[in-house]
Amino acid sequence: MTDRATAPFSIATDGIDPALVPQRVLASGARMPAIGLGTFGSDRVAPADIAAAVRGAAEVGYRHFDCAAVYRNEADIGQALADVMARGIPREALWVTSKLWNDRHAPADVAPAFERSLRDLRLQYLDLYLVHWPFPNHHAAGVTVDSRDAHAKPYIHESFMATWAELEKLVDRGLVRHVGTSNMTIPKLELVLRDARIRPAVNEMELHPHFQQPELFDFVRTNGIEPVGFSPIGSPARPERDRTPDDSVDVDDPVIVRIAQRLGVHPAVVCVKWAVQRGQTPIPFSTKRANYLANLRGAVGEPLTEAEMEAIAGIDRNCRLIKGQVFAWKAGQRWEDLWDLDGTITPP
Ligand SMILES: NC(=O)c1ccc[n+]([C@@H]2O[C@H](COP(=O)([O-])OP(=O)(O)OC[C@H]3O[C@@H](n4cnc5c(N)ncnc54)[C@H](OP(=O)(O)O)[C@@H]3O)[C@@H](O)[C@H]2O)c1
Repeated sequence: MTDRATAPFSIATDGIDPALVPQRVLASGARMPAIGLGTFGSDRVAPADIAAAVRGAAEVGYRHFDCAAVYRNEADIGQALADVMARGIPREALWVTSKLWNDRHAPADVAPAFERSLRDLRLQYLDLYLVHWPFPNHHAAGVTVDSRDAHAKPYIHESFMATWAELEKLVDRGLVRHVGTSNMTIPKLELVLRDARIRPAVNEMELHPHFQQPELFDFVRTNGIEPVGFSPIGSPARPERDRTPDDSVDVDDPVIVRIAQRLGVHPAVVCVKWAVQRGQTPIPFSTKRANYLANLRGAVGEPLTEAEMEAIAGIDRNCRLIKGQVFAWKAGQRWEDLWDLDGTITPP
């Protein structure tokens, strides 16, 4: 008897041929699938369930997986990736991202942190390695919104570039194809672009209909950096620490609901379709086959009309959900201080 993990790989009959999934062409010329599977279980989904979703997602046609050391499930995902490759999906057909967590920014820690992710993911190289946050401020999994790192620091550009230089060495060593940033702002990226030997290929940023970040979105694209959009559905199951009473709910927006009704899909799928069509690469999370398959179908299916795209452009509420309160570096700070809202880097 052959079990699922060793049976030869074939796309599920109701799945999507990966050749039909739109691709982003990065500044390097590399092609990245324009939708990926998120793997952050929001502190509540077991690693084994996320690994099962990675296997299932590969079976329905996903080839892009957004991972991170801090999600504490890379070893399980590595087993899933090994299974799908053992069954015949070549490594080159996959796009695997991981991220350096905030407590490993010290230059001496970067290579060991990267190598741990590589080992856990059971790969010889990664397609993309991101600096997860521009701050070297740590929080443990499952903390509340009041939690603070006693050694928290502001953004210090020289320190960031020392970390970045270690990522560049990983490229030089052939261990990662591209490096990138996440949770950045325009003034911080301007400095990185000025000083980097290897430019960021991607900036991973929060993007959903109620948080469209048009200036940053345009800035990165103008500078040849591909925007990857996290929490594309508005992260309805995000941890308690990332919820405030003023947060809006994308999937309840009447514009999104109306389009979903026209298409006969869940409003989540409309968020994914909008993202792909607008030009970012969404990485929706789901462990439910019906949902991750619907999201992938949405990425290749009938496009939204121009009027629908315009209607969604009109519902931006500038509603950041992942505010990062736990990364504040001094008492009494507002979360807005992390995001350089006046166009300059918030002073220490
Ligand atoms: N760089 C960063 O700092 C950063 C920050 C946050 C997130 N991320 C990445 O972005 C990924 C996605 O963001 P996220 O996990 O915050 O939120 P999200 O993808 O916006 O939302 C995920 C939620 O939507 C539900 N969902 C997905 N597809 C659905 C569908 N078709 N119909 C109905 N419900 C659906 C999922 O539930 P079910 O499981 O029940 O389907 C899950 O609860 C993360 O997993 C992570 O990889 C990165």
